[in-house]
Amino acid sequence: MDIHLSTCRKNKAAILWEGEPGDTRTLTYQQLSVEVNRLANALKSLGVKKGDVVGIYMGMVPETLQAMLACSRIGATHNVVFGGFSAEALRDRLLDSKAKILLTQDGAYRKGTASALKGAVHGILDQVPSLQNVVVLKRTGQETPMKEVRDLWWHDLISGRSTECKAEGFDSEHPLFILYTSGSTGKPKGILHTTGGYLTQARFTTRHVFDLKDEDVYFCTADVGWITGHSYLAYGPLMNGATLLMYEGVPTYPAPDRLWSMIDRHQVTIFYTAPTAIRSFMRLGDEFPNRHRLSSLRLLGTVGEPINPEAWMWYQRVIGKKRCPIVDTWWQTETGAIMISPMPGAIATKPGSATLPLPGILADVVTKEGKPCKANEGGLLVVKHPWPSMLRTVFGDPERYTKTYFSDFKKQKWYFTGDGARKDKDGYFWIMGRVDDVVNVSGHRLGTAEIESALVSHPKVAESAVVARPDDLKGSALIAFVSLKSQVSSGTPDLPSIQEELKAWVSKEIGPIARPDEIRFADALPKTRSGKIMRRLLREMVTTGKTSGDTSTLEDFSVLEKLRSSEED
Ligand code: PRX
Repeated sequence: MDIHLSTCRKNKAAILWEGEPGDTRTLTYQQLSVEVNRLANALKSLGVKKGDVVGIYMGMVPETLQAMLACSRIGATHNVVFGGFSAEALRDRLLDSKAKILLTQDGAYRKGTASALKGAVHGILDQVPSLQNVVVLKRTGQETPMKEVRDLWWHDLISGRSTECKAEGFDSEHPLFILYTSGSTGKPKGILHTTGGYLTQARFTTRHVFDLKDEDVYFCTADVGWITGHSYLAYGPLMNGATLLMYEGVPTYPAPDRLWSMIDRHQVTIFYTAPTAIRSFMRLGDEFPNRHRLSSLRLLGTVGEPINPEAWMWYQRVIGKKRCPIVDTWWQTETGAIMISPMPGAIATKPGSATLPLPGILADVVTKEGKPCKANEGGLLVVKHPWPSMLRTVFGDPERYTKTYFSDFKKQKWYFTGDGARKDKDGYFWIMGRVDDVVNVSGHRLGTAEIESALVSHPKVAESAVVARPDDLKGSALIAFVSLKSQVSSGTPDLPSIQEELKAWVSKEIGPIARPDEIRFADALPKTRSGKIMRRLLREMVTTGKTSGDTSTLEDFSVLEKLRSSEED
């Protein structure tokens, strides 16, 4: 922040913000710095010190960015938890990271209503022994339960605080933040990013991939609860002294042209969003973007999932008016910043390809044995050399870090991404999606094991296996195979109502983003001799639709029985 305060950017808009109901706020770099300092001093007054973990469970309001910056200013490590996660998911992340303070808000506006944040998690916070205080921002004014002494109102806490707070110097390897992401076991991983390397690559890539100029208005639609919100809503743009546009609510409120109207009103020049969003805009029809000129746009970006060429072409034609280059950026929570992406104007694009690794990034596609793949041969995406913003560990679980990322190519010491990919004859990378048990639903990363463990914690469920099926809109849809406990299945269970009950259960346990699209019942799940569920078969079944039909009837896997012996363990 401070580097901008001694330049003419001091009075430049850092954040242009729109609330969902239509209220707006603008914060210059100077004003943002004052707010960050006041909050940093307030956190200090609560005893927050270097290395303490501060949980942030907030929506898309400027205070969320202030919270992240205030933490980094005093050396506290922030742990932002996506506001769409359930109370249980928040609790687990606060417990694992041993958070001392939680910053949250009374509620946030979504789809025209004020939905509770603090109120939705209040009851569970007593289960986090490390938590000393909960600071609540008043956004909606809705009734909010507060626990005496522990819970404080944000405005009271910052009131009267000094607007000066020295930015302390820390080692480049000092932990900046933990961000939980899904892996192939039931427990999310706390990805740890440190200060120097992360900030360097976030700053470099924002500047060069988005060709960022002082005159730009940069709009990234990602929620701050995901890595894109960290690197390309908060840190990257602000370090570069950009003007960013931040929006609180859903893209279709009050009408399906909300984003396009914002682009015109704020004269947005750079727009960064996810393929799922593009596909849903496409489905809504050209009529909505066509109501607006969109003439300020000069560069478009996508992230989070492979973009199908049809969506790419639509984005280029209807939003970019064939005038704007598209940067398809491949990266991960673990990589911290963009790794494979065109540099606009310098690298020719091909619809559906993230093109080439950025300078200094040694990415490749190799066979399981580590041999280079031939042109267009599918293989595994690896990174052969460290990069500045790489994750440093899995918080509290260094073994999992080594095992997950460095055991597949141990000898070579390569980082394995978990993605499949191919390179074409020009060396362009085409990402083919995850090859592990991680799925991408509407650009949200979920672990099938996480959903399975939520399902088996339901009293009626004996066993479950969750697989993904390709979905035109969401990228993947979640199909859960469930076998019910015998005392339930031996009666005459009302299967459709159990389906609804289980879907709601997963929403409550993890969050609505993890709600299965379909629940199918099975007497037993197909397994290998050693008892591993044969997910490959289930995946095939839901993809080819071979045993579709009434989803509430019990599936009979006896036909698959004979395959057991041929399946490798
Ligand atoms: O499968 C890849 C997909 O998203 C995964 C990473 O998810 P997450 O850690 O949540 O980070 C998303 C935002 C960076 C990757 O392993 N992915 C991300 N970007 C792309 C992509 N797949 C294809 N093309 C992309 N541009």
